[in-house]
Amino acid sequence: MAFPITRMRRMRRSETTRRMVRENHLRVDDLIMPLFVCPGKGVQKEIGSMPGNHQMSIDVAVEACKEIADLGIPAVILFGIPDHKDAMGSEAYCDGGVIQRAVSAIKERVSDLYVITDVCLCEYTDHGHCGIIVDDDVHNDETVAYLVKESLSHVRAGADMVAPSDMMDGRVAAIRAALDVEGFDHIPIMAYAAKYCSGFYGPFREAAESAPQFGDRRSYQMDPANSDEAMREVALDIEEGADIAMVKPALSYLDIIYRVKAEFGVPVAAYNVSGEFAMVKAAAGNGWLDEDRVRDEILLSIKRAGADLILTYFARDIARLLR
Ligand code: PBG
Repeated sequence: MAFPITRMRRMRRSETTRRMVRENHLRVDDLIMPLFVCPGKGVQKEIGSMPGNHQMSIDVAVEACKEIADLGIPAVILFGIPDHKDAMGSEAYCDGGVIQRAVSAIKERVSDLYVITDVCLCEYTDHGHCGIIVDDDVHNDETVAYLVKESLSHVRAGADMVAPSDMMDGRVAAIRAALDVEGFDHIPIMAYAAKYCSGFYGPFREAAESAPQFGDRRSYQMDPANSDEAMREVALDIEEGADIAMVKPALSYLDIIYRVKAEFGVPVAAYNVSGEFAMVKAAAGNGWLDEDRVRDEILLSIKRAGADLILTYFARDIARLLR
């Protein structure tokens, strides 16, 4: 039916009809809030490029988690800033590590909040790479063994889900097998399946103090020019036992989110990363963009592309609005 019988504007005339035919919605259930946990007590240090986000000691993080749970946000993902970094990233998998202690404290005090841990070595190595260096390169298989240890230590501390973000080959299968042997067959894995080598991680690296001290991450993270390769990455991770496939970053990779959802039909998470957050904050701070409008537009675009879950530094702001 063509014009004038069909008039697309009829349903756009009022907020009521717009509400009635709205196809996508942001929901608090979809949100995962990233938090940065550091050693000490009473520490709350704002991250310059990520206004409203802080490096927090465990006691402060517990209080933040109470607020997050009260807002109805179902889950947090924790990143650790250790006391001490070394070549092997040993604080990533030791029992008294900052993340292990944070997980136990949060699960004890805010038991209904779902705690996901990021599994990677980059925050814990003095060279800032995501694995063990052999002959100037990140050694895949050696690294996988440490990621397995790290996952187990997080889960033993009480983590509800682990999220490997390192991009080593075969790590999901290795983590799955180890969790199963240790009696953790009920613990899901959210795999950073299609993780690109992106400039949008800049502010995060300030927050997590994890910038590589030499070279870059191109030998393990994906080339931004590729999309078929992302499908292969996701297929492998699902085959290896991933319960959720993540695409990261989100905004420049909406086509990847769309394809993953369409081709695999698995739960898809998208990481609205630090640089995407920082751009909005910076432009809004200068009065160049309306923060609330562009934030909602960006997050809706991620949902429209097919993401079920969104990891976002905006989680609290959205949850407050949706109350
Ligand atoms: C690696 C990791 C990174 C992010 C999440 N996990 C950084 C990287 O790969 O350099 C980035 C998240 C963000 O930018 O918000 N452990």
